[in-house]
Amino acid sequence: MKKKKSVAKSKPKPKMKASPKPKKGTAGTDDIISLILRDHEPIKKLIKSLSDIEIEIEKKRPLFLQFEKVLTQHAKAEEESLYVHMKEEDDLCIEGLEGDTEHAIAEQLMAEIGEIKNDDDLWMAKVKVLAEIVDHHVKEEEGEIFKQVRKEFDQSERIEIGKEYVQQFNMYSESENAPKVRPLIEISRQGFYV
Ligand SMILES: [Fe+2]
Ligand SMILES: [Fe+2]
Repeated sequence: MKKKKSVAKSKPKPKMKASPKPKKGTAGTDDIISLILRDHEPIKKLIKSLSDIEIEIEKKRPLFLQFEKVLTQHAKAEEESLYVHMKEEDDLCIEGLEGDTEHAIAEQLMAEIGEIKNDDDLWMAKVKVLAEIVDHHVKEEEGEIFKQVRKEFDQSERIEIGKEYVQQFNMYSESENAPKVRPLIEISRQGFYV
């Protein structure tokens, strides 16, 4: 992972270089906000399923693996694009740091869930808490954070950040750091579920 930029609040921060205005009709398509909203959709659907008490654990296990994969790819790309720029802005620095922290908590929880072998109640409890944390995080981003992002970055800047997000998103999917989804046969052999 790239080294995070340090935040020097005392110095005025240079504004990022804006690209030319997008052509009419394409405005907003690759804006960082549109891209994040798009990638939040599968995450929100999985949160709903993981929180659904009617869905049994055997069905939730593969959903969790899918959730871990899509959430990690999105979160890493977000940290390395939007959050880096948020931390360079006085008015969004704290929110950027909070975002990093919430991502780290979710990552830690996912690692713990992956380690649980023979305790269904503990697995369900941790998955429920994970779903609640990520649900809260996503709602906060789509509400207050995006409102501030629109205020701090104009459309050209948001498109530039969107390009960085896509680059990181694609890079991460090819990287060795991406969580490996274990084949179902292997999980079954370990007795996780049949
Ligand atoms: Fe986030
Ligand atoms: Fe997000």
